[in-house]
Amino acid sequence: MTVLPPKPPARPDKVSLWRYVKLFRQDILSAQPAKLYRAWMAEFRTPFFRSFMVNDPKVLNRVLKEQPDDFPKSSRVSEGLRPLLGDSVFLTNGDVWKRQRRIIDPAFEGGRLRDTFPAMWEAAESAVSRLETGVTEIEEVTSFAAADVIFRTLFSIPIEDEIASEVFSEFRDYQRSQPIVNIAAFLPMPRWMPRFFRRRTRETAKTIRGLIRRLTQARAAEIAAGTAPDDLATKIMTTVDPETGEKFSPEEMIDQVAIFFLAGHETSASALAWTLYLLALYPEWQDRLAEEAEQLEACDFAVMSKLKLSRDVFREALRLYPPVPMMVREAGCPVEFRERHVAKGSQIVLSPWHLHRHERIWERPDEFDPERWKTESGRQCAREAYMPFSAGPRVCTGAGFAMVEGPLLLSMLLKAFRFELIEGREPVPVAHLTVRAKDGIWLKVGRR
Ligand code: HEM
Repeated sequence: MTVLPPKPPARPDKVSLWRYVKLFRQDILSAQPAKLYRAWMAEFRTPFFRSFMVNDPKVLNRVLKEQPDDFPKSSRVSEGLRPLLGDSVFLTNGDVWKRQRRIIDPAFEGGRLRDTFPAMWEAAESAVSRLETGVTEIEEVTSFAAADVIFRTLFSIPIEDEIASEVFSEFRDYQRSQPIVNIAAFLPMPRWMPRFFRRRTRETAKTIRGLIRRLTQARAAEIAAGTAPDDLATKIMTTVDPETGEKFSPEEMIDQVAIFFLAGHETSASALAWTLYLLALYPEWQDRLAEEAEQLEACDFAVMSKLKLSRDVFREALRLYPPVPMMVREAGCPVEFRERHVAKGSQIVLSPWHLHRHERIWERPDEFDPERWKTESGRQCAREAYMPFSAGPRVCTGAGFAMVEGPLLLSMLLKAFRFELIEGREPVPVAHLTVRAKDGIWLKVGRR
């Protein structure tokens, strides 16, 4: 019998609005009905606005690629993140967003990834040397490792650095108090309703921004003195927008660093933790990856082209457990989707979580099968119904970065260690800031 990776229980198709609100507060994923894994589109009505969850690849294409300017990011979602992220590229829209991407994108181009690689390699080596054998909570391990990658690539400092470790621990507090898909995006809550997490979230956000300010100020001084290291922060702070001739102001840079840190480490940590869990569930795949990892010798970017299995496994983990489970856009003008009227101001929910497990699109959608990427049907699904990094002009800036980081860290860890399941501790996926396990992911770590 095929072993299926864990999926949260979907709610029955009919529940009262009150029960839905309760379920939603507990966990967004299990609050959704099972029929959404089969539907092309679903409508949720509230007294204040309408939400449409969209799984039809043609409609997704329209929202993300053909008319992205007509579907800006929903302000209902960004509201909760603004105290921390200010006007970061993750939240802005229109011309401000376009200008920000023109400055940021060059730092993440293919060629720059090669320059960033040694810092990732060092972070991976540190993760291996830190890991101890025995029963271990893996999300903790991968969060630390992914944060280390970000600090080393962005600011050339390891996670052990005093400011870096403080930022890391403050972010953990923040994560616990703030779900990424703000409840207000779906539910009938007027905007003025007080949110219970407001004060604590604001305080943590202020502390984090103060710490980041110290890093960016120090870097600005090094750039002025000509002593700055050639890392992502220097690249972004010195890039001039070709259209306006402007650079980021110091305050804007704080916004961008906050999102790089948040989007960059939470997501990769979630993806790596679920991949390690899947490999514990399928030990034959773990052995194949460990064998492939024998090719990792010296720090050389060219080795990435040899880690093919690791890449396929990582992609499959991103399909089953997309770290960003849902994204929300707003209809900037009235439109028709699948012959249904969508009024201006409606919320459009794009759900990698449902799309990646859609029963009418994928073959054996709930099965872990990294070989699927080699088949014609798998390739077609990858083009039409796979968007762990979103798609179109607003695609994740760090997608290429993450697809190097993930397979590299995975291979380094598997070369040295074996990961085994612990009976009775099956993780249940829930949506926090990213898709995490309800009580953590516990595995037994042994030396290989
Ligand atoms: C496995 C790892 C990652 C996943 C699954 C992921 C996923 C995503 C997704 C789905 C979005 C779009 C969100 C939306 O439109 O609402 C996004 C945006 C973004 N990501 Fe990632 N991400 C990952 C890693 C990274 C890394 C490593 C960085 C930077 C170092 C990064 C930086 C960003 C930024 C700046 C945006 C905002 C882009 C924009 O709105 O223009 N991400 N990411």
